[in-house]
Amino acid sequence: MKIAARDAREADFACDALILPVFEDEGMNPYMDIDRALDGLPSKIMAEGEFSAKQGRVFHLHTYGKIKPGRLLLAGLGKKAESTRERIRRSGGKAASYLRETGAKLTGLSIRTLSALPPEDFVEGAMLSQYRFGAYKKREDEKEIESLTVLSGEDWKARLRWLVEVEAASRFARDLVNTPANDMTPTALAEAALKLRKVKVKVIERREAEKLGMGAYLSVAKGSSQPPKFIVISYEPRGAASGRPTVLIGKSITFDSGGISLKPSEGMEKMKYDMAGGAAVLGAIRAASALELPVSIAGLLPACENLPGGSASKPGDIVRTITGKTVEIVNTDAEGRLALADAIGYARRFFPGSAIIDVATLTGACSIALGEEAIAMMGNSEDLMSGIRAASGQTGERVWQMPLYDEYKDYIDSEAADLKNSGGRSGSLVTAGYFLKEFADAAPWVHLDIAGTAWTDKDKPYLPKGATGIGVRLLLAYLKNLKG
Ligand code: BES
Ligand code: MN
Ligand code: ZN
Repeated sequence: MKIAARDAREADFACDALILPVFEDEGMNPYMDIDRALDGLPSKIMAEGEFSAKQGRVFHLHTYGKIKPGRLLLAGLGKKAESTRERIRRSGGKAASYLRETGAKLTGLSIRTLSALPPEDFVEGAMLSQYRFGAYKKREDEKEIESLTVLSGEDWKARLRWLVEVEAASRFARDLVNTPANDMTPTALAEAALKLRKVKVKVIERREAEKLGMGAYLSVAKGSSQPPKFIVISYEPRGAASGRPTVLIGKSITFDSGGISLKPSEGMEKMKYDMAGGAAVLGAIRAASALELPVSIAGLLPACENLPGGSASKPGDIVRTITGKTVEIVNTDAEGRLALADAIGYARRFFPGSAIIDVATLTGACSIALGEEAIAMMGNSEDLMSGIRAASGQTGERVWQMPLYDEYKDYIDSEAADLKNSGGRSGSLVTAGYFLKEFADAAPWVHLDIAGTAWTDKDKPYLPKGATGIGVRLLLAYLKNLKG
């Protein structure tokens, strides 16, 4: 779906369907000219209660040539006082999803009622809702909206550019995550990174990772015949003297079978999404570089597969990380933190003083605690966490902070090594976070567990079933807020 902006009156804009966002408590009042041209039909529909303008509801009517748009889509925004950026985004998603099903090609959007909050949120929701994963199944009768034109007298150039890159980055991340693990191997993920423009990409192979001492990360890859790829991406803004980069680390287990501590087969097919953290980091960097944000960024994706096999890691194995700390692997299914421990250690060695943000589908307990509704956030820096919270408010990618009490240290104490990789069931969301904290040490660090939010089994207003691309918009907003 293309987007554009045009300074035109709604009634004069020729299109298949025009979206009129409506507040419950305003009704058709802001659209009296259009209502009159249609002999009061829209306001009658509302007066008789056929359409309430409740948030997310829509009503579709024909205009019989009385105005240029062939049809109108009344899009409910709910009560004005309860309006939030996220509710506007969801209304946009609902409206565009509905229009798509009706076969509308050329569509328009009136932003008359959207002046209190950024109207681009409605457009963002509309754009994000149109995503489909079609690489392996072509649907003959698939309908698609060709264009959405925002009717506005203002200059939308910068806003359109932002929206286009955000949608492209989200689509890119969702495609990576939805692609099955037979195709989305560590090598394929590295190739996707290598194709990014305006960034430098280095892929650290097994031999070099061994030399660097990343024994925890490499232990995860041992059972697979797919070679591990530790992907390092750097983006430097043009001209600017490069400051310390913000380091973004994404968990990139392209398939998590659990290894020798094998997962139950029920639902295991979903473990292709265990690289959603890496996809979020790639997506955010893709948009940040395309938009030429004035901040330095380093992305680290410790990619590999977690499979059982004759050479796989075994429970009880002890490995040494790049930091020198040793870890007893008591459960080979707690593999994400092993890969992340070395990535955090790598960040501290090669980007000293940098802030570190890791994004990971780390624990099943994350979705037990928060469902699909929020990212679990833990960290050692109030500053970083408040930056993430601000970005969360802007993007609707919710975060909820979890504690890292000192007592959790005991949960992951090992008799034989410095740490063990699992503290068992009790508190497993936060003990996973605590494990990472031991590697972050004094570096400012935030951990975002996206296990509950990276995938959805049911369609949401602007997130169709499957990979959600969570983290892309959150990280991008965080980076944008750093400067400018
Ligand atoms: N990738 C999983 C976490 C996960 C589970 C993500 C379900 C998304 C949906 C992770 O590697 C894992 O297996 N974690 C274990 C840790 C346990 C063995 C300590 C878990 O949470 O069960
Ligand atoms: Mn696992
Ligand atoms: Zn995993």
